[in-house]
Order: sequence, then structure tokens, then C-alpha cells
Amino acid sequence: MQVVKTISQFRQLRQPVTGSVGFVPTMGYLHKGHLSLVRQARAENSTVVASIFVNPTQFAPAEDFRSYPRDFDRDLALLGKEKTDIVFAPSEEEMYPATFSTWVDVEKVTERLEGACRPGHFRGVATVVTKLFNIVQPTRAYFGQKDAQQALVIKRIVADLNMNTEIVVIPTVRESDGLAMSSRNTYLNPKERQAATVLFKALSLARRLRQDSEKDAEEIRQQMASLILKEPLAQIEYVSIADAETLEELKIIDRQALALLAVRIGKTRLIDNMLLD
Ligand code: PAJ
Repeated sequence: MQVVKTISQFRQLRQPVTGSVGFVPTMGYLHKGHLSLVRQARAENSTVVASIFVNPTQFAPAEDFRSYPRDFDRDLALLGKEKTDIVFAPSEEEMYPATFSTWVDVEKVTERLEGACRPGHFRGVATVVTKLFNIVQPTRAYFGQKDAQQALVIKRIVADLNMNTEIVVIPTVRESDGLAMSSRNTYLNPKERQAATVLFKALSLARRLRQDSEKDAEEIRQQMASLILKEPLAQIEYVSIADAETLEELKIIDRQALALLAVRIGKTRLIDNMLLD
């Protein structure tokens, strides 16, 4: 496995590669969710590239950029075990030199949910992923269903900007009690960790109601919210039942629907989602 920190070093390694390149962009502090993306990339491509870059532009000033967990050596060991070929781990200056002034702004699908709660977040994500795609030139790039809206934003960019990369979305990897794996789970103390299971419980309730033929989206939202409100450590940011393709809120579930949640457990903001059919 080769580890490179500059764009020019990466390009030197990339240039002679002829077969397919599978790419997994990450912010590091890797867990089994990230590794399932790497495994899929390994199974489908002749060369596997992963990036580790905690992207400052997708964090708002009051968010956790500084405290975001980092463990570079452990990440490299895990990527090595999964037979990653190249790790691209640029510095902040490498990605955003002082002259930097071009941004990728995706409309519509970024306007609700995460986009509404975290202004500027998707502009940072869209910009860094576009930059990474231009550097890595992947045949396929792998994203988690855990960040459902992010995956839709990336698909939009690839279609709108005619990028020659296939986007592959991988199912959410969960702990045994259903909590979606996330680097941010490390912020939770034991009581909060227990309380955090309420997200999966609410999503499972939504799926059960839908399987029992409930079509009224507001009824499902309300039942999810009242379940979450019973957990004293939880604070709801949003509970959504939305069109799985456009993320438009639904009144009646008459197409593929996604239940999406953002909930604060103490100070930690967690998101999760589940397809309802
Ligand atoms: P990060 O949060 O590190 O996640 C990297 C990738 O892992 C994303 O595609 C995310 O959806 C996926 N992932 C996270 N938890 C997962 C889980 N439990 N199961 C399956 N996949 C999971 O998402 C980002 O980084 C950044 O926004 C990035 C795309 C790298 C741009 O900076």
C-alpha cells in the first residue's frame, strides 16, 4: 500500500494505471461501515484508492471540525488489511491553498434536511468530492446509504457535470443493537450510547407501520417523534418521510419512501435513515 500526501505524487502513481479504479473517500477514524465500502471497491476494481481528509469546508464554524476524531496510523493499518492500493491523505493547504476560490453548489436536493440544518455543509462536500474525483479519476466511487442525502447530492453532481464515474451506494453497517456505525459515536458516554438506540427504534417503527400498510406519512412521523420524545437525552432536529429519490416530504406514501432522522443525543448530533419498502 502506498500512502501519498500531495496531488502531484498521487498523479504520478495514477498515471500508469490502466484497469478500473475504485475510490472510497473518507474523513478517517475508520469503522466497519467505511471498511464495507473498501471491501466492495476491492471486489469490483483492479486498483483501490481511499482518501483520508477531514474536510474543513463542510463544517460550520460552531461544528466539530477541531474535535473530529483522528487516528491516522490505525486507519492505515485497517486500510492495509483490506488490501487498499493507494491512500491519498492531503493536508489542508494541499486541498485549499490561499488562492482557492471555486465552489460547487448543488441546488434543490441540498435545500432540505441536512442542508437546512447545516447551511454550507453540502457546498463543502460537493466541492471536496469534485476535487477528489478530479484528482483520483475513479471508475467507480463508493458511498454509504448512512448519509443518504449526501449520496443523492453526489449522484446529482456526477450527472449534471458529466463525470465519468459510477456511484455505488452501500447499505448502512450497524452495531448489534441497530445503532448506525459513525465516527461520531465515540463522542457518546455510556448513558448516551444507550439512548442513541432510539434512532434505530424509531426507524424500525416506521418500517413496521409501513409494512402494516400505513400510507399516511404524517401519522408515521408523529409516531416516530413520540417514541423519540420518550428518551430524555434525545432532541429531535428532524423526522422526515420523504421520496427516496428527491427527498421531497410525502403526505401519502405512494412511491419508494425513506424515513430520515437527525437527533441530538446530549451534544452529539446523529443521523440515520431507512428505506420503508
Ligand atoms: P465519512 O463520514 O468519513 O464517511 C465516508 C463514507 O463512509 C461515506 O460515504 C459514508 O456514507 C460512509 N459511511 C459512514 N458510516 C457508514 C455506515 N455505518 N455504513 C455504511 N457506510 C457508512 O461522508 C464523509 O466522510 C465525507 O462527507 C466525505 C464524502 C469523505 C467528503 O468529505
